[in-house]
Amino acid sequence: MATDLIDLTGHEQVAFCSDPDTGLRAVIALHDTALGPGLGGTRFHPYSSMDQALADVLRLSRAMTSKNAVAGLDHGGGKAVIIGDPHRDKTPELLRAYGRFVESLGGRYVTACDVGTYVEDMDVVGESTRWATGRSPERGGAGDSSVLTAYGVFQGMRAAAQHVWGEPTLAGRRVGIAGVGKVGRRLAEHLVDDGAEVVVSDVDPDAVSALLARLPGVRAVEWLDDLVHADVDVFSPNALGGALDDETVVALRARVVCGGANNQLVTEGPGGTADRMRERGIVYAPDFLVNAGGVIQVSDELQGFDMERARERTATIFDHTLEVLRSADADDVSPAVAADRLAERRVAAGGPRPWLPGDPVGARPR
Ligand SMILES: NC(=O)c1ccc[n+]([C@@H]2O[C@H](COP(=O)([O-])OP(=O)(O)OC[C@H]3O[C@@H](n4cnc5c(N)ncnc54)[C@H](O)[C@@H]3O)[C@@H](O)[C@H]2O)c1
Repeated sequence: MATDLIDLTGHEQVAFCSDPDTGLRAVIALHDTALGPGLGGTRFHPYSSMDQALADVLRLSRAMTSKNAVAGLDHGGGKAVIIGDPHRDKTPELLRAYGRFVESLGGRYVTACDVGTYVEDMDVVGESTRWATGRSPERGGAGDSSVLTAYGVFQGMRAAAQHVWGEPTLAGRRVGIAGVGKVGRRLAEHLVDDGAEVVVSDVDPDAVSALLARLPGVRAVEWLDDLVHADVDVFSPNALGGALDDETVVALRARVVCGGANNQLVTEGPGGTADRMRERGIVYAPDFLVNAGGVIQVSDELQGFDMERARERTATIFDHTLEVLRSADADDVSPAVAADRLAERRVAAGGPRPWLPGDPVGARPR
């Protein structure tokens, strides 16, 4: 039952949206707004059923509560899904109809891009709501969020280097990057500038050759498995989710795992992949902590986008990662558990739920 699932995941509000004229069917989920309006992207995907769409949006919006809280943003967790094939069903009319539903929540939900939605789509959604971010710079938007996502991952990696090797730099370290799309290739640039030796792998040969043309010092290996087994100091997943299963963790020779991909751990919770890494002495920088630069970038749009302010804010990922790694050691838990606890503490210090437009935002001293 849908209502059981909503209760089980602790959701505050779920809105089912339908517009027969444009064929829009969407679900907007607000998990927790104790810290402020829910912020998270809109996924456009051909779900096979409403149940499947609902399960996905509930999982994704709950994850946004933790991500936004750990990033120190005055935002709760929210996410939306549009049911359909983005290549076939996405029309300007449908996107505008969707924007009206976002607007109907009065600012309690702020949307952005996700899988299947792009900057140009948010420009159209933004024609019927004030609460669309990730728009183009021409429309006052933050543009491609992978810029600060990659910068934030680099800051998290510097913090992990400080924690493990005592210096906040990757200079002289060998870093393996799995996936050199928008985030991975920008991360490679930061690492090369910092003096790291970079090895990459991607299933798309064009992505690899474009990177090697820009950064001739970078080396590529054909198979992802070769990268997993390679003699690297840091392994950085920047492709799809589920990069870290037990088999991969056993094969890894890296001391640090830190990358931008979402949902890297195949098994979450106690006894899961984060614990496996800890047992092997691998320091894991939690994905939702280090890849928050993109959400920091788009959230800045609500104040009138300023790249420098957003970049400074993203740089705090260094301190947050160091804090999480140190408290994980102090409490004898995995960094994934330490990051969850940090998020829970911040959410608990927020205001009453549901947050209403005009209410204060952020954590309050108690
Ligand atoms: N773009 C952002 O701002 C952002 C923000 C937060 C998290 N993320 C996450 O970061 C990851 C990468 O995002 P992106 O925007 O760079 O996506 P992208 O599609 O631009 O790049 C992904 C790259 O991974 C490659 N790839 C796919 N499967 C692979 C495999 N098995 N082995 C090696 N390479 C493989 C693809 O060919 C592609 O080049 C995703 O998990 C995404 O959810 C992105």
